[in-house]
Amino acid sequence: MSEHPANRSSGSPRTPADTVTIRCRENGPLVVEMPAEALTPGLKLQVTDHLGAAFTPPEGKRAVALCRCGHSSRRPFCDGSHRQHGFLAAEQAEPQPDG
Ligand code: FES
Repeated sequence: MSEHPANRSSGSPRTPADTVTIRCRENGPLVVEMPAEALTPGLKLQVTDHLGAAFTPPEGKRAVALCRCGHSSRRPFCDGSHRQHGFLAAEQAEPQPDG
């Protein structure tokens, strides 16, 4: 049986270098992680509202944290307010068999 990624000592599962990963933080935001730019030239991350208007993401980051607790003052981005509000969302994926 394989080890669940959340149980690894680094706390962060490895992902392929060409994969955009959306990580559900334990009791926190959804973190969208882009692959290294050198491996995916031209790939950009854009966050839009329901009408398609783009929000300004944090400068120079390969990852953005999207609020899912509803308490951030910078929605759709997380500002850490989930901690003060005791947000609980500790979903876990089923471990996958080694393949
Ligand atoms: S998830 Fe962090 S402020 Fe909402």
